[in-house]
Amino acid sequence: MNNFQFKNPTNIIFGKGEIAKLANEVPTGAKVLVLFGGGSIKKNGIYDQVMSALKNHEVVEMGGIPPNPEYSVLIKALDIIKKENVTFLLAVGGGSVIDGTKFISAAAVYEGLSPWELITNRQPVKKGMPFGTVLTLPATGSEMNSGAVITREELEVKVPLGGPGLFPVFSILDPEVVASIPHRQLANGLADAFTHVLEQYTTYPIGALIQDRFSEGVLQSLIEVAPRIIKNPADYDAAANFMWSCTMALNGLIQKGVPTDWSIHVIGHELTAMYGIDHARTLAIITKSHYTYNFESKKEKLAQMAERVWNITEGSVDEKAKKAIDNIEAFFHSIEIETSLSKYTDKFEGTAETIEKRFKERGMDGIGEHKSLTPQDVAKIVTMSY
Ligand code: NZQ
Ligand code: ZN
Repeated sequence: MNNFQFKNPTNIIFGKGEIAKLANEVPTGAKVLVLFGGGSIKKNGIYDQVMSALKNHEVVEMGGIPPNPEYSVLIKALDIIKKENVTFLLAVGGGSVIDGTKFISAAAVYEGLSPWELITNRQPVKKGMPFGTVLTLPATGSEMNSGAVITREELEVKVPLGGPGLFPVFSILDPEVVASIPHRQLANGLADAFTHVLEQYTTYPIGALIQDRFSEGVLQSLIEVAPRIIKNPADYDAAANFMWSCTMALNGLIQKGVPTDWSIHVIGHELTAMYGIDHARTLAIITKSHYTYNFESKKEKLAQMAERVWNITEGSVDEKAKKAIDNIEAFFHSIEIETSLSKYTDKFEGTAETIEKRFKERGMDGIGEHKSLTPQDVAKIVTMSY
């Protein structure tokens, strides 16, 4: 096992009716900016629950943070923060609202020339304005990690930022919010969380027993809960397991002491930037070709996954590993997620070359757990995903 440090300061408040606890978690006397997305929270009652819990706080609000949180929208919050002397941020939404809030949190206390430098300087963010979250969509794990991904449409980029200053102070996880989530977003959440585990597990064996068993447990829980949650998102027990699995998939725990890959995400972000494809679906497009292209270096963990997640005990390592790849693809299909780029866009020709060029320009010449995948390798993987 590799050396590691682990600190996760986010206070998780989990369960039915827990949104009411906001009043105790937001500091007394704080001026709160409530941030949300396109308005789903006004239809499903979450907005009312939040506002009722904050009735004794001074509150201002800003809605309209779009999926794939857009820089030009986020920076509007900075004026509100200054004008209204805001001291605490509250994200009420899914990964996009929470990531957007993380960027705003960092930008609100940043002293450089432009908030965009937070992206271009590629430095870990050490401080931000304190913020909490009310999670409305299980998927990203953003509610318990310190990373974020921001889009800037005018530059056609989707780029990460993060650092120890960007953990939420608290996150309220009430599984009842799942009841109003449409099928497309439920499937996205399942696929995203599933791939988060894959990125931290499907590398090479390093003798990290607990991390492997945790990862396999999260994969099995997602597989078990997927048909139930797709059939009936109001199934509280299924929703609770879905929500906690998604958080556990990316709160930092399973990646400690082990190699991690993240190629699927890095390539996937390009597909969102180019074609606007939902984040989770970009991952489903890339996964099979990535694992097929890198079969030799990943086959031992793939075979372990086949044995322990799907109980495939017959056959050689190669045979088991191939079955794992097939089963991963079958999981995506079972939740009605297409796995070829051509199913999402007619203009897929040339995608591989564009991504190769972008990676070369950014100096991304070694991605993956071995830091060995070149832009040319990436182009081949993308071509295989057409
Ligand atoms: O905008 P509103 O009206 O709220 O509607 C949203 C949005 O249209 C809707 N929704 C959310 N909760 C709902 C609901 N609709 C009905 N009922 C509810 N309870 O769902 C739509 C999608 O929301 P979004 O926040 O975009 O989805 P998700 O949580 O999947 O987040 C995706 C974003 O997170 C980033 C992705 O790249 C993408 O930008 N990621 C963040 C990560 C992180 N911070 O650690 C890691 C991930 O790998 C990922 O990259
Ligand atoms: Zn993801």
